[in-house]
Amino acid sequence: MKALVLAGGSGSRLRPITHTSAKQLVPVANKPVLFYGLEAIAAAGITETGIIVGETAAEIEDAVGDGSAFGLRVTYLRQEAPLGLAHAVLIARGYLGGDDFVMYLGDNFVVGGIDGLIERFRQERPAAQVMLTKVADPSAFGVAELDASGRLIRLEEKPARPRSDLALVGVYLFSPAVHDVVAALKPSARGELEITDALQGLIDAGLPVGAELVSGYWKDTGNVTDMLEVNRLVLESLRPAVEGTVLDSELIGRVSIAPGARVTGSRIVGPAVIGPGTVVENSYVGPFTSIDRDCTLADCEIEYSIVLRGASLRGVRRVEASLIGRHAEVTPAPRVPSAHRLVLGDHSRVQISS
Ligand code: DAU
Repeated sequence: MKALVLAGGSGSRLRPITHTSAKQLVPVANKPVLFYGLEAIAAAGITETGIIVGETAAEIEDAVGDGSAFGLRVTYLRQEAPLGLAHAVLIARGYLGGDDFVMYLGDNFVVGGIDGLIERFRQERPAAQVMLTKVADPSAFGVAELDASGRLIRLEEKPARPRSDLALVGVYLFSPAVHDVVAALKPSARGELEITDALQGLIDAGLPVGAELVSGYWKDTGNVTDMLEVNRLVLESLRPAVEGTVLDSELIGRVSIAPGARVTGSRIVGPAVIGPGTVVENSYVGPFTSIDRDCTLADCEIEYSIVLRGASLRGVRRVEASLIGRHAEVTPAPRVPSAHRLVLGDHSRVQISS
């Protein structure tokens, strides 16, 4: 079995922190979301992995390399434009050959990995196998309809009036039967070759398509509340490790301090992770906080938040439930005049308490 990981896309969807970078590299507990997928693939015993890349190819290739860090052998497959998930299968056909494959959307996070899904696929040998999860906003997803016996009968991509609250999770298993269906697909109303149409094609041809319900699922929708929540979930199982320098400080609970990080005169209550090269001085870092690499925290208090690479917070307390973007700076305003001074990127959101 091979893996096909989708890390293409134009990077143009307007989300607070993916304006300029690949959404598959959004960090969860200081690790790109894509890496969790690659680890899940390796853990399921798969080695040969094709990664679909688009406009952000350089960034993805820089982060993943040849895949050996994950125990994978990675081949990059260039998609000229984001023409749909089934289009990715179409261009990967030569690479996939006659093998079964797991298709994994690089911006999806599935708690508990994919071993179970693959195991059932191997036992039952359907033409395809999908995962479904209940969501609050099904019209933002592919939506599945099951019959009374729980059999998958219909799939619709982002329907205005969803027939259920069961969304397709971005991990799909396929036998090579999918290639003939994909080859015959026509672009949808939004101009993409839809994987939901490919799955529907398999169902309509009378081929077995399995579906199973999962819980513990997240994807980058630009929703900060969800992002903080998945960060919390991952930090719940953080392995404590103090590899950086810690002086005159108190570390309570599960705290991870990366090599090259420096914590002085501070109190850190875990679970919390401090990235390499980050400096924390005279500060409080509370539970469920991820501070990425090369950040500076001086004289501040922060809790239940995510701080991305290179950001600095000085003299601010207290920051809570916040997402601070790369190289952002947060400092107190001068006392006179008493005013907020903001330089905010497109689509930023700020809540000021005063
Ligand atoms: O996340 C689950 C959902 O993913 C499913 O419920 C939907 O049925 C499925 O169509 C897909 O919907 P999205 O609109 O959320 O997909 P998105 O455009 O965000 O692309 C998913 C990933 O695949 C993302 O990492 C970018 C990559 N991609 C996407 C397209 C359209 C490619 O590599 N090439 C593409 O052509």
